[in-house]
Amino acid sequence: MNTEDAHLEPTRRGFLTNLEPSRRGFITNYPNFQHWKKLTSGDVLAPKPLNIYVHIPFCAQQCSYCYYRTFTGSRKSEIDRYVDAICREIEIAAERFHLKERPVLSIYFGGGTPTLLDEKSLSKITETLHKHLNIDSTNKPEFTVEGEPVTLIQKKADVLKRLGVNRISLGVQSLSDDIIKLSNRQDTEEKVLRAIDFAQGTGAVVNIDLMSGLAGETPDTWAYSVKRALETGVESITVYKMELYANTQYYKDVRNKTLDLPSDEQELVIPIPKKN
Ligand SMILES: C[S@@+](CC[C@H](N)C(=O)[O-])C[C@H]1O[C@@H](n2cnc3c(N)ncnc32)[C@H](O)[C@@H]1O
Ligand code: SF4
Repeated sequence: MNTEDAHLEPTRRGFLTNLEPSRRGFITNYPNFQHWKKLTSGDVLAPKPLNIYVHIPFCAQQCSYCYYRTFTGSRKSEIDRYVDAICREIEIAAERFHLKERPVLSIYFGGGTPTLLDEKSLSKITETLHKHLNIDSTNKPEFTVEGEPVTLIQKKADVLKRLGVNRISLGVQSLSDDIIKLSNRQDTEEKVLRAIDFAQGTGAVVNIDLMSGLAGETPDTWAYSVKRALETGVESITVYKMELYANTQYYKDVRNKTLDLPSDEQELVIPIPKKN
């Protein structure tokens, strides 16, 4: 050691920096304090807006590709009990966490299949939300309900409109009847197009989900689904790449070698150059 440096800290003498140079840039907080924003006490204390998600875990059938935890064939009494419990939970949470003070930005009924619920249940949940939360009736928040086309008849669409639903998201998946059937769904292209019409008739923004990589898909069936979906004029189309999960019928069938799914390359619809 240079005796002139003896009064310096070890790092300044170069001990630690030489031994462990990789530790010099260690970040102790993130984001770094230079990027912290100044907040006023008003910002901190202002009630934070809320986004509400209500889960409806019931479906008309278990689709062969679907990994969501959902119940099929539930009795009306079971669904009613679930709806009662949801309403009670909204009431308790609103009181315990003072949610009435926080403006609601969006409401989303997801599933499962929320459009499987009858008018009484849909109304009960919506009215409970209005009673216990801060939902502005002039600047209405986005209110989305997810549904399966086969469950969206005209009467149900009227109910959604009356309840103030302004966005409907339909799980279409495919417009090819053969693929729909192979997925164990009850829709047909005709029923799907009719349901989209009902949804559009409510004046809501309509989204439809398509899935790529379903059993039976070819470049032609995929092109057909996309073309028909675009022709409906819906505001948005969401494309999901099918993910294969162990709790699905597809998975069992693939494992038992009774089902072949399109490979990633086939799904990309890009001709693969042949090897010599
Ligand atoms: C919870 S579902 C609700 C839609 C509605 N129950 C229906 O099927 O018509 C939401 C979306 O998840 C997507 N999905 C379901 N299983 C999937 C999987 N295995 N991989 C990728 N997306 C999936 C589907 O596109 C579906 O429309
Ligand atoms: S895709 Fe939709 S209808 Fe089919 S099982 Fe999943 S959540 Fe239910």
